[in-house]
Amino acid sequence: TFPKQVKIVEVGPRDGLQNEKNIVPTPVKIKLIDMLSEAGLPVIEATSFVSPKWVPQMADHAEVLKGIQRFPGINYPVLTPNLKGFQTAVAAGAKEVSIFGAASELFTKKNVNCSIDESLQRFDGILQAARAEGIPVRGYVSCVLGCPYEGKISPTKVAEVAKKLYSLGCYEISLGDTIGVGTPGVMKDMLSAVMHEVPVSALAVHCHDTYGQALANTLMALQMGVSVVDSSVAGLGGCPYAQGASGNLATEDLVYMLAGLGIHTGVNLQKLLEAGAFICQALNRKTSSKVAQATCKL
Ligand code: HMG
Ligand code: MG
Repeated sequence: TFPKQVKIVEVGPRDGLQNEKNIVPTPVKIKLIDMLSEAGLPVIEATSFVSPKWVPQMADHAEVLKGIQRFPGINYPVLTPNLKGFQTAVAAGAKEVSIFGAASELFTKKNVNCSIDESLQRFDGILQAARAEGIPVRGYVSCVLGCPYEGKISPTKVAEVAKKLYSLGCYEISLGDTIGVGTPGVMKDMLSAVMHEVPVSALAVHCHDTYGQALANTLMALQMGVSVVDSSVAGLGGCPYAQGASGNLATEDLVYMLAGLGIHTGVNLQKLLEAGAFICQALNRKTSSKVAQATCKL
């Protein structure tokens, strides 16, 4: 049975833009976030407090966070890879942060330049600082259905890392199919393993759509009781350290499917489509959302 209500975590301004080669002007990022707020997304991942040498697109993180309108009831979390990022984020006004780990050693090394164990030690430091400031922390596990460097990843490994992040104090664990290689059966096996270690109410799925499986994989997760789904407006997205990974599940397509299932999201699809059209025009690209393609009959 499906959950009655689904919380959508919009990751477009962060995951969607981080991989864009041309630097997107800060006012465009701010306008996108404001339009997504207007559309009623309850959580909008705004930016990343990562090293600008590693991800130049996110170098304007503080300006973005300071420039957006904050709608009551909407959370604007930001990614923080280490204590330095956490402190800069809090100084810029972040009220929630996300840490990002992975179930793959090689991906962790490429993405954050350390081992899984070292990353967990960093996260422990962030979680302690966050607790002292009353800041909730979300945890990502990347490569849950496959890794660009290691190939297959065992569900046991995913469950182990998810459990660690949860016991360190993350209130929610987002399971990322970073390179979009999973299929629903693999998603089911992985989730079954993770659900032994972390309550399903604390789990989210984060599916990239490289092989066109994101919506199907998400539907499987919903059937298994997951009620938090990450997605990206216009299906933007990709990770600079996972070559060939395409965008995330498009938020428009997710909202359309959930509406069809009678599942409440609180999102206004029309306004969401406007936000998607705005960012696609700014990036000079075509939307990856099927719903948006169907709606704008060109
Ligand atoms: P490092 O080079 O090992 O770090 O990078 P370091 O501590 O040696 O510092 C090197 C330099 O970076 C120093 O500057 C630091 O001050 C600076 P220098 O002295 O050379 O001038 N620095 C920072 N600057 C700003 N903010 C910071 C920061 N930290 C250090 N927070 C580090 C380690 C973690 C910093 C780096 O690897 C990094 O920034 N990685 C980020 C990678 C990234 O953003 N990946 C994409 C997000 S994850 C993702 O997309 C997956 C997800 O969507 C889920 C899924 O799909 O599966 C979440
Ligand atoms: Mg991602």
